[in-house]
Amino acid sequence: MKPVLVSKPQIYEPSYIHPSAQIGEGTRIGAFCDIGKNVVIGKNCNIQAHVTISNETVIGDNVFVGPATSFFNDKYPVYGPLKAPVVCDNVIIGGHASIGPGVKVGEWAVVCMHSNVTADVPEETVVKGNPARLYMTRKQYDEKARMYSAHQKYWANYEDEEG
Ligand SMILES: CC(C)(COP(=O)(O)OP(=O)(O)OC[C@H]1O[C@@H](n2cnc3c(N)ncnc32)[C@H](O)[C@@H]1OP(=O)(O)O)[C@@H](O)C(=O)NCCC(=O)NCCS
Repeated sequence: MKPVLVSKPQIYEPSYIHPSAQIGEGTRIGAFCDIGKNVVIGKNCNIQAHVTISNETVIGDNVFVGPATSFFNDKYPVYGPLKAPVVCDNVIIGGHASIGPGVKVGEWAVVCMHSNVTADVPEETVVKGNPARLYMTRKQYDEKARMYSAHQKYWANYEDEEG
């Protein structure tokens, strides 16, 4: 599908972006997203396909949001009041996660795929599960990810040499 450039962010069609939403430079919005009224998304974010972001949600800079994740703002639907989530800078959210009404995801936190986040996530922590609970620290996550990545590269090179 052809990307459509709307000011500097890159937005893939079809996606609905409410005209009042603000999207920072270098941010990429995948296809089939629904971005509500007064949503603010910072710079250099990667919002993957099928993400639903409810009205008034605030997302910082350098945030990754995996596919089919949803942000909610209505704790007791039809009664209100609405309270949107806030996601701070440098957060990673896996695919199919749910970020509940009024929840704050602290800076450098990681939300594992399919997590159901019902309470604030402290900065630099990793949460998983339903309801999402502490899994490890961001430092441990980064170490694990680096080791995994190095291991994959080692075997890729090894296979090249062998082949
Ligand atoms: C954070 C993440 C990397 C964790 O990986 P990990 O720490 O290497 O986890 P492991 O595979 O070693 O599994 C450890 C345990 O946690 C469990 N687990 C792993 N991911 C889980 C998740 N998202 N939710 C609940 N449990 C999970 C495993 O089942 C395993 O449980 P066990 O010890 O009872 O067998 C991974 O869960 C994740 O969310 N990745 C993001 C994927 C994604 O959405 N990508 C988006 C772009 S495609």
